[in-house]
Amino acid sequence: MIRGIKSLRYIVVVTTIAFGFTGLAQDKTVNDGVFTEAQVSAGQVVYDAQCKTCHNMRFYRDTLRSWNNQPLLYLWESIMGTMPADNPGSLMFEEYTDVIAYILSENGFPTGESELDPDNGMDSIAIVAP
Ligand code: HEC
Repeated sequence: MIRGIKSLRYIVVVTTIAFGFTGLAQDKTVNDGVFTEAQVSAGQVVYDAQCKTCHNMRFYRDTLRSWNNQPLLYLWESIMGTMPADNPGSLMFEEYTDVIAYILSENGFPTGESELDPDNGMDSIAIVAP
């Protein structure tokens, strides 16, 4: 009887761990063409006007490295909440998204058919170090 309870508990623990990992599973990375060419062009305009004065591309490369394996949505949220440092949250959602597309493109990641969209699957796109 006691043995039965123990193994049941073991099964519960194992399934919890398995589900835990499934919850974190990310099906795509920034290497899979997750933003479009049009977003990159739009993002460059925003970047030049809003981001260039304080950071260079080297800075973003290091940032992407330090965010390795994190969902892209978290970086989007972080940038939206804190940048531009002199006026956080002042851009439109779309502009933050385009800027990220531009930064990814400048760091060598490919464009694709699907638009990057914070409301649609960006939490399951993993950042990989450039
Ligand atoms: C007025 C100066 C200024 C402007 C403009 C600015 N930033 Fe920043 N940014 C900072 C400072 C200061 C930090 C924090 C210190 C650091 O990491 O160098 C920072 C940090 C960051 C980080 C690191 C966040 C992290 O959690 O690793 C990113 C990414 C970033 N900025 C992106 C942007 C983007 C994108 C824009 C344009 C929309 C922008 N910044 C505009 C000053 C600025």
